[in-house]
Amino acid sequence: MKNFMTLGQFIIEKQADFPYAKGELSRLLRDIGIAAKIVNREVNKAGLMDILGNAGSTNIQGESQQKLDVYANEQFISALKSGGECCIVASEENEDIIRLDTDVSKNANYIVAIDPLDGSSNIDVNVPVGTIFSIYRRRSIDGPATIDDVLQNGTAQVAAGYVIYGSSTMLVYTTGKGVNGFTLDPSIGEFCLSHPNMQMPESGLIYSINEGNYVHFPQGVKRYIKYCQVEDKATSRPYSSRYIGSMVADIHRNLIKGGIFIYPVTASAPNGKLRLVYECNPMAFLIEQAGGRATNGASRILDIDVTELHQRSPIFIGSEQMVRKAESFMAGELLPDVKEHEMANAF
Ligand code: AHG
Ligand code: MN
Ligand code: MN
Repeated sequence: MKNFMTLGQFIIEKQADFPYAKGELSRLLRDIGIAAKIVNREVNKAGLMDILGNAGSTNIQGESQQKLDVYANEQFISALKSGGECCIVASEENEDIIRLDTDVSKNANYIVAIDPLDGSSNIDVNVPVGTIFSIYRRRSIDGPATIDDVLQNGTAQVAAGYVIYGSSTMLVYTTGKGVNGFTLDPSIGEFCLSHPNMQMPESGLIYSINEGNYVHFPQGVKRYIKYCQVEDKATSRPYSSRYIGSMVADIHRNLIKGGIFIYPVTASAPNGKLRLVYECNPMAFLIEQAGGRATNGASRILDIDVTELHQRSPIFIGSEQMVRKAESFMAGELLPDVKEHEMANAF
């Protein structure tokens, strides 16, 4: 039999990278992996809801059926609670922070921020969805952890990652020493290391943005989109447009193939749509660790001051050269390799 390494084995092996580690973070990552497998099972049978009972109805045990995003939220919170290594969960699904106040959890050293189900509008149509997570060490030394322990800048993350429930299910994460991807082998119920040391291509041929909002985009974004669409043999333009509508899936594809994902400010979302704490920061940390770049169009996502739990930010994330190019359009700079007459024709 071919040798393979499970997520559990990998986490334990990597603990040696942190000589003073007591195994707490390892156990926390393991707990997230367990919840991901449970959510995966439910996502996979989402289409059976009509047969087994719709949201709002009652299942055979008398429990009411829930929407998958609520279900995913509960699974992650419950796994983190019983694991005992996390004192606070901050979730997209909850207005306020959730204190895990079991005797063990309340003294735990870690905070988890989570988007339990990303791309939830895609569930009904069999399109990949995901989970995004971010892990911080609490800063306060005594007493219960507070919201201030949660509102840390992205640079303070100790680990971050995502799960993509796609044609296969993968868990991809970083602890600040590169990025590794694990594919779920359903026959043995284990995530197995399939994508060691993932590196984002420096450039790519894909741009991902909801172009339906074009009229509401800032001028710099409009100009960058046109740049992507202009014919230029030397840079293999026009690029392909690919937009799934699940940030996890769009960024996962771009991480492997090279590309840029943009969710800018729009007229209806003046601060952008995506949330800094549990969407932008974890993805930015991971993509930087893979050699990519993540900014708000001008400055680094990870350096943005976090002041609110559900704070939003515009995001430009992906292959380093593509993000830099988009930023220079945002800054209104004239770019030497953009032929003026081509740009003129494009408008
Ligand atoms: P969520 O399902 O957690 O609310 O996130 C959806 C997000 C993100 O995954 C995706 O890229 C974006 O919303 C899509 O938004 P538009 O439909 O506005 O393009
Ligand atoms: Mn989301
Ligand atoms: Mn969500």
